[in-house]
Amino acid sequence: MPTSSTVITFGTFDVFHVGHLRVIERAAALGDRLVVGVSADALNVSKKGREPVFSQDERLAIVGALRWVDEVFVEESLELKRDYIVAHGARTLVMGDDWTGKFDEFEDICQVVYLPRTPAISTTAIVEKISTGS
Ligand code: CTP
Repeated sequence: MPTSSTVITFGTFDVFHVGHLRVIERAAALGDRLVVGVSADALNVSKKGREPVFSQDERLAIVGALRWVDEVFVEESLELKRDYIVAHGARTLVMGDDWTGKFDEFEDICQVVYLPRTPAISTTAIVEKISTGS
């Protein structure tokens, strides 16, 4: 049986933008299979203090349709990261470098890679730009 090296990453991926695309492309290049945990609506409210623009079902559909993504699931809780990594047999955990150091505790079960964020774009900035018109 061929061995596959699964990469896992997490995020909200609301109002999907090029920064999201770039992190997913680079995460996929680190293994044979990419699994993405998409934050539940409730988790997003507790983490970012606002309802996402797109519902979790819509965000799952968008991320799951990308050619680099092999599987998507709903990330219900930040506390379950270790369980998700183990359940998906991930060899590598990828996070944006806004999280540098925060997930080193998982180095006992997988490689942890922090990728540089794409500069000057975020969901927050896009939402603000649309709502203020500037
Ligand atoms: N990301 C990135 N470059 C950006 C924005 C996001 O590489 N410019 C990455 C994050 O580091 C994370 C993933 O995309 O690995 C999902 O990030 P998410 O928090 O959903 O996107 P943001 O645009 O940062 O959202 P917000 O403004 O709501 O915090």
